Amino acid sequence: NIEQKVDSVLALMTLEEKVGQMVQYNGSWDVTGPATGTTNEKKLQRLKNGLVGSMLNVVSVESTREAQRLTMENSRLKIPLIFGYDVIHGYKTMFPVPLGETASWDMILAEKTAAAAARETAASGVHWTFAPMMDISRDARWGRIMEGAGEDPFLNAEIAVARVKGFQGSDLASEKTIAACAKHFAGYGFAEAGRDYNTVNIGVHELHNTILPPFKAAAKAGVATFMNSFNEIDGVPATSSSYLQRELLKDGWAWDGFIVSDWGSISEMIPHGIARNKKEAALLAVKGGSDMDMEGGAYESSLESLVEEDKISETLLDDSVRRILRVKFQLGLFDDPYKYCDESFEETELYSEENQDLALEAAKKSIVLLKNENEILPIKNSVKSIAVIGPLADDKDSPLGNWRAQAEANSAVSVLEGVKNYAPKNVQINYAEGVKLSTGERSFLKPLSLNQTDKSGFEQAINLAKTSDLVVLVVGEDAYQTGEGRSQTDVGFLGLQDELMAEIQKVNPNVVMILMNGRPMDLTWSDENFPAILETWLLGSQHGNAVAEVLFGKHNPSGKLPVSFPRNVGQEPLYYNQKSTGRPNANAEVTYSHYTDSDRDALFPFGFGLSYTDFEYGKIQLSKNKFSASEEITASIEVKNTGDMAGEEVVQLYIRDLFASITRPIKELKGFEKISLQPGESKTVSFTIDAELLSYFGGDKKWVTDPGKFQLFIGGNSVDLQQIEFEYE
Ligand code: IFM
Repeated sequence: NIEQKVDSVLALMTLEEKVGQMVQYNGSWDVTGPATGTTNEKKLQRLKNGLVGSMLNVVSVESTREAQRLTMENSRLKIPLIFGYDVIHGYKTMFPVPLGETASWDMILAEKTAAAAARETAASGVHWTFAPMMDISRDARWGRIMEGAGEDPFLNAEIAVARVKGFQGSDLASEKTIAACAKHFAGYGFAEAGRDYNTVNIGVHELHNTILPPFKAAAKAGVATFMNSFNEIDGVPATSSSYLQRELLKDGWAWDGFIVSDWGSISEMIPHGIARNKKEAALLAVKGGSDMDMEGGAYESSLESLVEEDKISETLLDDSVRRILRVKFQLGLFDDPYKYCDESFEETELYSEENQDLALEAAKKSIVLLKNENEILPIKNSVKSIAVIGPLADDKDSPLGNWRAQAEANSAVSVLEGVKNYAPKNVQINYAEGVKLSTGERSFLKPLSLNQTDKSGFEQAINLAKTSDLVVLVVGEDAYQTGEGRSQTDVGFLGLQDELMAEIQKVNPNVVMILMNGRPMDLTWSDENFPAILETWLLGSQHGNAVAEVLFGKHNPSGKLPVSFPRNVGQEPLYYNQKSTGRPNANAEVTYSHYTDSDRDALFPFGFGLSYTDFEYGKIQLSKNKFSASEEITASIEVKNTGDMAGEEVVQLYIRDLFASITRPIKELKGFEKISLQPGESKTVSFTIDAELLSYFGGDKKWVTDPGKFQLFIGGNSVDLQQIEFEYE
């Protein structure tokens, strides 16, 4: 058994070798060639000496085999390396960015895309992804909102589990699965004012009720690793938080994987101002429960001396090393360190036709129809000329998004290409860029140049719009406008896009706006001026084909927003599951909780999305309206497709606890089901409610279910809901 094997390896290890397992290096040189510079030379020597546990950013069979060989053929104990990489929404085949894919509310799909990404990753010799990210975020300003599943803890937890299952499969030792990583533990998405890495100030109730549920669910689902986060919470950096890492995760949830720090987050306790030097930072982190130091150099330089000086015991390190070895055994690396090194699998799996088909399916299902006045969509046969306009219309790169792993630049299908692929032969397609959104080289570490002032493309675009039956206007955000370090104070359209949109609207009212973006945006003007809006996120390799299938009615959109879209940036952070406050209503003209210059609700609420067909909801039926601890009740509702096209609907259940030991949200998502209905068809959807579903982390710092009255809501989004009451006794 694995535990005995782990112990037998541990028993052979010197203190130096134990510390080595807790060190992760970035592959900062091409490992298949000579190491250049003193840092890389030192790294190479430590690899050979068996003093490195893991590497990140070493990819391909050739490179991982070589790095593994360096360790296996030169080190004393021959403990294999584990290779990690950020496979966030695909490896070579790109699937929609995670926020976009969440809009599908399709957990089977999320599992399938993670499994496909895992196969491509494993085929490239990599064992471990730093995903899924499950940071709840309610702030459109935060650039990393694109990498998560939006604002809701329930939806986040469901999709986190689906993605973990997809990456890890049922057998971690298979050559086609990889270890997943629940990140960032915890609170990173609550950075003040949406500014990346900023301070997080939340109370313990918010932490447990809002932030931790996806992490807890992922731990329960057997996620192999966790990553802690850069931020502090209430004065304590997550990297040194023994409350989070030891008390909750390792002890409370009895989770036996290992925690990797975020990049250098151990040493970042120096600028945080709680460690004077790397040694103090290492001491805080290791005591706090961080098992592996990602490229921070703190463990490598300090752990041995900390043991020798009796500042920490060697058994503390044993626990970390045991956790790391356990995952390596689970992956089967001790049986065959080169088991992921199969060139023929690498050749056939990457960017396979099967993965492209899945990318198209995922992309279609992630699209949200936000507006469709006078049923302008799907595009009618009477339309004989289409002007495809906008800075993102023929952009083959932006759909790949940020964190694009090994995707080839400019490899996505653009909207223009998709429209050409799917438009009926007798329809004329013309294109004008109108204006540029960004210029310069795009890459993870490069700031974008977004202040474009060149209007020379306006005339062509306006003329084209004037002479076409319909305009498909493709605007929004560049690939690298969201992601790490991409926070913004403006969630509108940057550059000259506003001006272009206004000019186009003046000459042709038949505009279908295709929005490409990684964060919720302020769509107030577009909503007032365009008849149709399609939210298409950054959909990955098959972006343009998916958009075209929706435009021409080959696919009926069914996505629903996983985040609230604001009326203006001043509303942020904005989320549907708010608290009531003591002054919720407009019963006073001034002194109630509102804005004097804006509505306080979302322009497009959480859970919202239209279809080309209509769904009619029957009345909520409750099996009983009172129940107690050992019982459960069922809430059912009939949903009918009353239109003339087959479609899918996400039926959503929300609950409100009316009186509790702490203040509770005005409603919380507690269940959903995605159903398919033919025209005229009805289905009954049922949800089971028990004490656990109603429980929350309450006033006495425990999970409780309060007796009393609850409201239950069912509907197709978080606002248009039917309501009924029940009692828990
Ligand atoms: O996985 C990422 C993390 O999300 C942000 N910092 C760097 C890590 C490794 O690339």
